[in-house]
Amino acid sequence: MSLSSEDSPLLGLQITASRSKVAKNSRNNKSEQRKNMIWVGVMSTACILSLLVLHRYRKSGFNNPTPQRTLNDSAFDKIASPLSEELLAKLNASAKRHSHQVPLYAKVQTLSYQIYTGGAPAYILDDNDNIIKRNEECINLNSYGLPEGTSDLDLQCYLGLDDTAEDVSRRLSIMSDAVNRAYDIADPDETTLKIFLAPEFFFRGKNGAFEFVNEEYEESIGECSDICHILKGLENIVADERFEHWLFLFGTVIGSEKLPKKDNYDYQFYNFAPLYKGFNPATSKRIGKNFIVPKRYVSNIDFLTPLRHLTNRSIAMELLDETDPSVSATLMNPHLVGHKRYDNEMWAKYKDELSSLGYNMIEYGWFYMDGIAFSVEICLDHLVHRALMTYMADVVTGSKTRVPSSANDSVEWVGIPRHQAQISLVSSAGMDIIVASLALANGGHIYLQDGMDGNTPVQTTYGTDECQPNEYEFFGGSQCVKRTAVVSATDVTFEYEHNLNFTDYAVYADKNWKDVVDSIFSKELYEPRLTVYDPVNIVLIDHGDV
Ligand SMILES: *[C@@H]1O[C@H](CO)[C@@H](O)[C@H](O)[C@H]1NC(C)=O
Ligand SMILES: *[C@@H]1O[C@H](CO)[C@@H](O)[C@H](O)[C@H]1NC(C)=O
Ligand SMILES: *[C@@H]1O[C@H](CO)[C@@H](O)[C@H](O)[C@H]1NC(C)=O
Ligand SMILES: *[C@@H]1O[C@H](CO)[C@@H](O)[C@H](O)[C@H]1NC(C)=O
Ligand SMILES: *[C@@H]1O[C@H](CO)[C@@H](O)[C@H](O)[C@H]1NC(C)=O
Repeated sequence: MSLSSEDSPLLGLQITASRSKVAKNSRNNKSEQRKNMIWVGVMSTACILSLLVLHRYRKSGFNNPTPQRTLNDSAFDKIASPLSEELLAKLNASAKRHSHQVPLYAKVQTLSYQIYTGGAPAYILDDNDNIIKRNEECINLNSYGLPEGTSDLDLQCYLGLDDTAEDVSRRLSIMSDAVNRAYDIADPDETTLKIFLAPEFFFRGKNGAFEFVNEEYEESIGECSDICHILKGLENIVADERFEHWLFLFGTVIGSEKLPKKDNYDYQFYNFAPLYKGFNPATSKRIGKNFIVPKRYVSNIDFLTPLRHLTNRSIAMELLDETDPSVSATLMNPHLVGHKRYDNEMWAKYKDELSSLGYNMIEYGWFYMDGIAFSVEICLDHLVHRALMTYMADVVTGSKTRVPSSANDSVEWVGIPRHQAQISLVSSAGMDIIVASLALANGGHIYLQDGMDGNTPVQTTYGTDECQPNEYEFFGGSQCVKRTAVVSATDVTFEYEHNLNFTDYAVYADKNWKDVVDSIFSKELYEPRLTVYDPVNIVLIDHGDV
């Protein structure tokens, strides 16, 4: 069943019988117009860039005062009427077709990639002289700023290369080093699913985001944008016989887009995780292997507040050549100006295009892969219980939400697993596993990989936070927790076990890691390494009828 907006009641896209025809027709029109407007340049270069297409498509609507919108938006308006019989029957049918319920794997092994992805500190302590000095990594970048809500001493800069294409290729190569290292140390057993988990912000440029380039420029280079190159590069990594039994969550990509707004510029912001199932190109058709997991909530530390917006500029004046025009290129901090969510709405509208480019959206934080129920969250989304909230909202609205289930080169749309997730994944920067956010099946495991806390010792505390006297807290850059339920006549509780069954491996054995990450990631914090967990049994669940 192909991806379509009708199947997502939680998005408010509830379509009555007559409207559903409208929607279908407009989709057909849309694909025709799309051929004219977009497809000819893009598909012929075999550039698999969903976002590029979406962006260009949307932008063309944006620039026209009387936009030639191919979608009749009013057909997609939220409507209050209940689901039509037709849609109910359709959902019922798709629920019954859920044939991916037998897990393909008996065990799972997570290989977590510890690499510092935060901003580089502008000032560092010189160990020899015990004095505070400027961090050379930031010099000449002029992309200084403060994470919101931190003190003046936390001034940071974004790292990256001026040539963003070169920057992307360096980041891909650093990712590839870790993937290859992971392959060498992973459990070779084919019945063990391997999960490669990277932290948030792995892909963000020297101004805090990769820009969606404007149409004219794009046409002039006639090819892929930076974000297109990231996705293509990742697709190439996973299209490898070696990775047939691997799932990859490649951290996140930060994108921004300048929007003309009167005479000034405004921005849209995107933060999403590319998620892939590896495959053997000789035997697999690559269907249902590529996913985009959009992050929903903007955190106060997702972006630096750039120097030009700081109230006290004197703290950093000495760092700057004020005449350098690149000072103004650093993105504004969306959170600080009240922009609390990422601008993901357009993806929801253009799911068909995503789908035709081989990507599926994981919009509710839930998916099935090879018969295994997963939840996936990015950083703050975990703290605000996104997967758990969706689960509960789905239950109280009659379990009509549909999420992708991928196996055997096909995708089905099925209900959210009633028993919650067999495996939960979190990619973050500055986040820990939060007990209150867990949506795990009985005996299931959650894995979190952080991009800032890699030098925090792994540990668990109970009740040390006065505000949460009965709560567990978990620390460390890689975290894994197993939750089991205890239900007796006199007690109902969950038990949590911090999984300490792991081994750390250096990523670079034969070279100096600082040379490899130079100018891309900070060398001042910690060495990249892989935290490799012992394989654990995938807990078996009864999926129920949806
Ligand atoms: C869009 O849909 C609405 C209601 O379905 C209809 O009244 C309107 O004429 C349509 N507009 C276009 C441009 O097709
Ligand atoms: C959905 O399926 C169940 C059993 O498979 C059936 O009892 C029910 O009537 C169906 N509902 C609709 C709206 O078709
Ligand atoms: C995939 O297909 C094989 C053979 O057709 C089948 O045995 C297996 O159960 C399927 N896997 C899933 C997860 O549906
Ligand atoms: C600005 O920062 C400098 C250096 O940290 C500090 O000495 C000064 O008091 C600050 N000014 C204000 C108004 O906060
Ligand atoms: C860690 O390993 C031990 C010994 O194999 C096992 O009993 C325990 O359940 C494992 N812990 C987790 C959280 O998987």
